[in-house]
Amino acid sequence: MTAAVDGFDRWIRHEFVDFNTELEEAYFSARSEVLFGRPELEKIKRAIMLDGAELIARITEDGGIPADEKERYRLLGAVGFYLGACRRHEAGGPENPDAERLSAAWSLANILGSSLGVAPRFVFAHQSLHNPSVRDSYRTFTSLEDERVFITYNGLAVLAYQRAAGALRRIPTMGVSNPMATYLFEDARAALDDVLRFNRTLSENLDVDRFFFNIRPYFKPYQVGGIEYRGANAGDFAAVNEIDLLLGLCKARDPFYQNLLAEKYAYVPPEDQVLLRTIVVAESLLDRFLSEAETGPVTPRFRLNAELFLAICRAHGAAYAYHHHKLVKPFLEAPAKAAPKERLSDMTASGPPLEMVIRGLGYLSDLRAARDRPGVVSARASLGRLRELLSAADA
Ligand code: HEM
Repeated sequence: MTAAVDGFDRWIRHEFVDFNTELEEAYFSARSEVLFGRPELEKIKRAIMLDGAELIARITEDGGIPADEKERYRLLGAVGFYLGACRRHEAGGPENPDAERLSAAWSLANILGSSLGVAPRFVFAHQSLHNPSVRDSYRTFTSLEDERVFITYNGLAVLAYQRAAGALRRIPTMGVSNPMATYLFEDARAALDDVLRFNRTLSENLDVDRFFFNIRPYFKPYQVGGIEYRGANAGDFAAVNEIDLLLGLCKARDPFYQNLLAEKYAYVPPEDQVLLRTIVVAESLLDRFLSEAETGPVTPRFRLNAELFLAICRAHGAAYAYHHHKLVKPFLEAPAKAAPKERLSDMTASGPPLEMVIRGLGYLSDLRAARDRPGVVSARASLGRLRELLSAADA
């Protein structure tokens, strides 16, 4: 790390956190997403914008852009925290970020983003898995306990999804009836149960109002060099898609799913881009089970693995249904109903109106739960066929 990068990192971990926390406490007392026209608060907003701009200008003047890819990715995250906070506090006004002040940050973010092949903004990976902790503390926007709870349990759920994907990814080369695959199926099943457990802990420990007023607003879309990039969310990793496609619950040739993957590509970390590229051409485990069951005897090992596979599909559907009904709806949809009208266009991380985002997530939830409904053709029939073949072999 150069001295300038180091100085910026120190500021992001200390003064920046204090400034944001003070603003958040004022917004929270007023139960308002943001406040304008209060001189003491405007002064803090201005200090965030100016102090950060000065420290970032030093990095570009030094010409010290890190050679190491991981360090460049982390720096992109830190610059993104700064830009995300300027956007969140609407410093310069919501439609009018102070372009001149932000130009050094925009330029650095663009250079870092292009060098890495990712969107030039912070994403959830910068808040979780690419966020080294120093003396027990990773980078956050505020020192609010709810932010720590939110990032930690989201991050743990991402790790659990990655563990499930890592196990499933290894099965195709050994075959679905391999005795060693049993161990991997069991591991994937346990990992998806962990996703549900972490989501449940999150829902039980996160305060709805704190999330809505003080955490969610940092996840909004923001501009870099006049182009708007959509906001961050915990789905911006390859693992959940690897699980969808490897299980065969979603199909890479489904236009809805293709759009989802294409849209997400720039928002996942570079190592996940490789995984997304690989997964779209993989044969699903469901297809492998069906073709073996249609053509050969159902051996005890095949049956054991097939039953584990069916349990994994149920666990994946259950974890995502929980996300939809116990996280998205109570933490976003319900409080949004009480928000002032002029704020409604600004509710989602991706940018489209909230109802549209929730409809898309509902569609995904049905695919992952293999639930057919008008307009959704899920893997329900194929899973039913596998169950039939297992029962027929019983008779
Ligand atoms: C209070 C907690 C949470 C809320 C309110 C929430 C809300 C949302 C919303 C609104 C989206 C759509 C983003 C957009 O287009 O604007 C989304 C996407 C997503 N979230 Fe969450 N989320 C929460 C926690 C989590 C957790 C803990 C996980 C587990 C890793 C998770 C996984 C995902 C996934 C995988 C997607 C993207 C859909 C996909 O590509 O499959 N979320 N979330």
